[in-house]
Amino acid sequence: MKTHWTLLLTLGISVANAAPLPATQRETFDFGWKHARFGNMPDGTVQPEPGAESAPLTSSSHEHQNIAMNAMDGNRNTRWCAANANPGHYITADFGKPVAVSQIDVIWEKAAPRDYVISGSDNGKTWTDIAARIGDNGTESAQNLYGKNQKPADSRAYRYYKFTVNGTGGGNWASIREIEFTDAAGKKIKPAGEKLNANKVPFGANFDDTKWRSLNLPHDWAIEGPFRPELENETGKLPWVGIGWYRKSFDVPADAGEHRYYLDFDGVLSMPKVYVNGELAGEWGYGYSSFRVDISKHLKPGQKNTVAVRAENLPRSSRWYPGAGIYRHVWLTKTNPVHVDNWGVSITTPQVSKDKATVEIKTTVLNTSDKPAIVSVENAVAGVAGAAGKPETVTIPAGQSKEITSTIQLGNPKLWDLDTPHLYDLATTIKLDGKIIDKVNNTFGVRTVEWKPDGFYLNGRKVRINGVCQHHDLGPLGAAVYARGYERQLEILKEMGVNSIRTSHNPPAPELLEACDRMGILVDNELFDIWEHQKYDKANGYHILWKDWHVKDLQNFVKRDRNHPSVICWSAGNEIDEQGTARGKEVAQELVRLFHEADPSRKVTVGCNNPNAWKNGFGEIFDIYGFNYKPHLYGEFIKQRPNQPVIASETSSCVSTRGEYYFPVKWGIGDGFFNYQVSSYDLYAPGWAYRPDREFAAQDANPNIAGEYVWTGFDYLGEPTPYNQDRANAGNFSNPEEAKAALERFAALGNKAPSRSSYFGIVDLCGFPKDRFFIYQAHWRPDLKMAHILPHWNWEGREGEITPVHVYSSGDTAELFLNGKSQGVRVKKPGSDTEGYRFFWNDVKYEPGELKVVVTKNGQPWATATRATTGKTAAIDLQADRTAIAGDARDISYVTVTMKDAKGNTVPTAKEPLTFTVNGPAEIIGVCNGNPVDLSGFQKNTIDAFNGLAQVIVRGKRGESGPVTLTATSPGIKTATIKLNIAKPTAEQLKK
Ligand code: GAL
Repeated sequence: MKTHWTLLLTLGISVANAAPLPATQRETFDFGWKHARFGNMPDGTVQPEPGAESAPLTSSSHEHQNIAMNAMDGNRNTRWCAANANPGHYITADFGKPVAVSQIDVIWEKAAPRDYVISGSDNGKTWTDIAARIGDNGTESAQNLYGKNQKPADSRAYRYYKFTVNGTGGGNWASIREIEFTDAAGKKIKPAGEKLNANKVPFGANFDDTKWRSLNLPHDWAIEGPFRPELENETGKLPWVGIGWYRKSFDVPADAGEHRYYLDFDGVLSMPKVYVNGELAGEWGYGYSSFRVDISKHLKPGQKNTVAVRAENLPRSSRWYPGAGIYRHVWLTKTNPVHVDNWGVSITTPQVSKDKATVEIKTTVLNTSDKPAIVSVENAVAGVAGAAGKPETVTIPAGQSKEITSTIQLGNPKLWDLDTPHLYDLATTIKLDGKIIDKVNNTFGVRTVEWKPDGFYLNGRKVRINGVCQHHDLGPLGAAVYARGYERQLEILKEMGVNSIRTSHNPPAPELLEACDRMGILVDNELFDIWEHQKYDKANGYHILWKDWHVKDLQNFVKRDRNHPSVICWSAGNEIDEQGTARGKEVAQELVRLFHEADPSRKVTVGCNNPNAWKNGFGEIFDIYGFNYKPHLYGEFIKQRPNQPVIASETSSCVSTRGEYYFPVKWGIGDGFFNYQVSSYDLYAPGWAYRPDREFAAQDANPNIAGEYVWTGFDYLGEPTPYNQDRANAGNFSNPEEAKAALERFAALGNKAPSRSSYFGIVDLCGFPKDRFFIYQAHWRPDLKMAHILPHWNWEGREGEITPVHVYSSGDTAELFLNGKSQGVRVKKPGSDTEGYRFFWNDVKYEPGELKVVVTKNGQPWATATRATTGKTAAIDLQADRTAIAGDARDISYVTVTMKDAKGNTVPTAKEPLTFTVNGPAEIIGVCNGNPVDLSGFQKNTIDAFNGLAQVIVRGKRGESGPVTLTATSPGIKTATIKLNIAKPTAEQLKK
């Protein structure tokens, strides 16, 4: 970027002629992108990336031809990688005719010993090795393969030259900035073909993207579908593998001067490469990490500038549906040369009492100019008189950053707590020469968090963690981030009694933590599912990124999330393969040390499924031990490790489909069903897992366990256990005849189970509570007067047959009536893992009519509930969670569609087809019904009701406002409408 410097003699620093910015400016960069997909296409075909056909190169690694050109484009800002740490990756260059090469220089990205071979060929098929080097440690300085210092073993001319990486330096990616060829006359020569880095490749500045699709971010390319039955169940049968390119142009003012420009990505799946005006400006590995790219030096002020982002999801890189593309927000951040660094303010409250809190602030100021800067840093709590720190003055050398510590005493602090999540706003002001050059605001809370061997303490009070694990997808919206989607998830979970979530098994969207801060929900913030070792068959899991990225991922994660009062611990990993190995212990130590260095205020945990991990030396490395699925070991742990805090980091994994019931009801046997559903009596779980009641009993017997995180709060895309592996369904039948029939059915489906989303959720993929919701609510909210009956009572054809009835209630005694006739009284047996937490009547014989339960607690009336047989579907009811939303293309309204009989009762078996239309400035962005085997798609305006319910999600058009009518129709049923209102967005909303 061109800069104009004026010397300010008095201060000895330089400033640009361009007017300084009043403060860091951060604006959405989500709108106006072009997008296209390559590699694995949604329909199953494979489409090469543009430019590949004209490239005089072929390459073996997942870094395809046009990326391979990076290694020969003459631009040392770009590069090509031999994938992973696997040997044998090559680039082949075609010169079009035989060329005698006198020297080949390889410029690696960074120093590390690598082995490579160069071979030549006349036909591109048979190769002769002409030179090799073992342990080349080349850095930015060119390394001669042969030539000056080394004569080529074979100096004849070849048409093709191949460069093969055979050793990648102990797990490093072999990253090549340039391979340069020199001919006999000492001239640099390039392979033939079209000009490298030309307009033909998607990162090229002038690439023609006019035919690409226009879209806005966040965008998940895979949720658009279609579902393909032949794709893996485990990752949701959606086409998430492949390559996606995104391009966007934007103007940079001519007087941009020395302002810095950054692109801040909240998350891109996966391995994003960010090009600006044709040059590689930055990249990341892990698709769940947030990262910043400094694009300043690539910009052309006063001109049109182009950003191109490449994302690639490799096959076998995930155990669940990950999503694909730029699925979280992107921000353009503009700063003065001296500014508060990205996530540069750390706020802790080392001392908290009723009358006083000490707030400690560490501000990192970055000086990107070429002169030292003398700055003053001032911190103040907004809106609290007298809560300001002493201004600190510091000199920051050119091109460096400094951390400045200040403290603020806050009188009578309002504590952040579950019911009163009070948030403070800290304003940090940076002055240079007495003038404000930066001002940033950060939210924080005042609270104490303690992990003790007898449990978790918030503000000095013991709090049992009633938590759930959550994957990051938003069901029908996929991985695309909607802040309201997360907020609604938390509202539903809070209603159930959840006070904490575990972000299994990766960094969440920032919006999730913001919502937890606002809503008083505690977070176990988890970083990894994999360390160095491959998990199962996931050959392209995080382990391929580990070596180069884990430190950076951890540091970005902690820096980004450390000010959230909701975050109560860091989790270094989930069911890591290395739980027992010596190397695993070393890695664990490294991670715990890195977490503590980055954030001394929080403890570090890990989720262990290895039953020995707590006594083989692995578990004690962590501040808090996390048990996954081991209620039988709690007692022993507490006895043998009395000083280590412990939590049940993953529990239950009970499976069910909302509203499905099968007979006979068997306790503990997870029989499969021909229709790939799971019965909702909440008795079924895979081999490693168990009913909710078993965990309740184990926790009640061992109150030192800090609490639990149930797998999972919401159903999620992928991992449809017990139909996760394709042959699982037949194996799930205990009766050999049924198993045989299941296998035949299975063969008829092409040997693929149709399931695409999980059965683990306590609520379904739409967010509709399953029965299980109420067993948790009864246990976690003991003061809420409630009772819930299952199953539904529409069993035409089962008259006289045994139809067990279960009741979940916070009361202690229950009497069930069928059509007024008592079925008996049940009394909870405290601590029993069968009769301690639910009432059940195993001998009820079905007859149509009404079930009623009357519950008492401590001998006093407590709650009643009924379930009545309904008529046929006659009407549709539409209810929006919010009828007024902002027209900012961010806000969304979730409309629940309920199928009713003529008397207005919900028909629990209704499955009629529905069609939606929307009139006004809004659009339908998703439909859902919670049926794990519905492969009809989410991004459309039709769906079948499933067991009485369906969902449609509506978004206001950006910048528009006005009334909206949503209509639902179904043949033969009365049409329904609902009115929504789209409110004109504020200027502030449009910045987001
Ligand atoms: C756990 C694992 C989770 C999920 C769950 C299903 O072992 O940590 O990611 O796979 O099992 O029960």
